[in-house]
Amino acid sequence: MAAFGTVFTAEMMLAEYSNNQWSEPALVPVNSISLHPGAHVLHYASTCFEGLKAFRHSDGSIHIFRMDKNVARLQQSSELLALPKVDAAMLRQMILDIVKRYAADVPNPPGSMYIRPTHIGTEASIGKAAAPSLSSLLYVLLSPVGDYFAGGAKPLRLLLEDNARCAPHMGMVKSGGNYASALQPIMKARAAVQADQVLFCPNGDVQETGAANFLLIDGNEIITKALDASFLHGVTRDSILTLARDRGMKVSERELTVDELLERAVKPGAEAALSGTAAVLTPVGTLIHNGQEYAVGGGVAGTTTASLRQALNDIQWGKAADTHGWLTKV
Ligand code: PLP
Ligand code: COI
Repeated sequence: MAAFGTVFTAEMMLAEYSNNQWSEPALVPVNSISLHPGAHVLHYASTCFEGLKAFRHSDGSIHIFRMDKNVARLQQSSELLALPKVDAAMLRQMILDIVKRYAADVPNPPGSMYIRPTHIGTEASIGKAAAPSLSSLLYVLLSPVGDYFAGGAKPLRLLLEDNARCAPHMGMVKSGGNYASALQPIMKARAAVQADQVLFCPNGDVQETGAANFLLIDGNEIITKALDASFLHGVTRDSILTLARDRGMKVSERELTVDELLERAVKPGAEAALSGTAAVLTPVGTLIHNGQEYAVGGGVAGTTTASLRQALNDIQWGKAADTHGWLTKV
């Protein structure tokens, strides 16, 4: 299978904002946009995006997972980047239209169709370093995908990094700049200790990795940072916490320090995992901090991560009842 996110459908849905209004969304060839080299997004990073998935059930029907959450997050990101306001009903319809058009291309489980709504500031004005773009493009890309992590569900190695992933007030924004600012630490961690990902822990506060949220599971308790502006409010995180509550687990959304994490993670029975649309729920096997390696669960893989991942997949794949109303049939 091709690397995650490298294959696209031939068309996308596109809407343009100018003169204070949105154009009628249209189906266009995927390579049909052109930008002025002075476009706001290319200089001042006025860009945000979303990642959600559509799944094929065994009867052939196609279902989008928690679309409203992702639409709301793109609206919020757009607002925090001072991009034009995104109309929720319009974006929902754009997503439904493009997924319906390419329904035949949605892979069977464990594959899925990754949906990438994207919003960029297009005004050609390099003087607007401290002013918003008054025009923008909103488009919805599709990419059939398999596993995000090449090793499948192989436990990951995480390097704990003492610096922040991005500016503290921007972490909850799914913006391109946040990903760019995390690249150097990630590349260094790969080269230095063969880490798969970096877990950003500014001032000892365990936040998230470059592309997923972080969860510590200790027996019947699941612990993860409480929502604040400094990190992305993952839809998968929310879904996993909901499924954990459903099965009677104690869910603790609170501050988790590096000291507490390293102390509890190594105990027998402890598990750690990354949650995200691309990552689903992937086990973490090793934490690396200050040159020392910590084997999660004493090196013994637990079963809770795999069972929560399965519970999530069962709903997404139509094998378990969608009791929370998370699926939208296209
Ligand atoms: N944190 C970051 C930085 C991400 O890129 C992602 C992926 O989307 C997440 C967390 C998880 O968010 P979600 O579960 O909504 O995909
Ligand atoms: C997602 O899980 O949707 C993400 O945005 C992660 C990504 C960078 C592939």
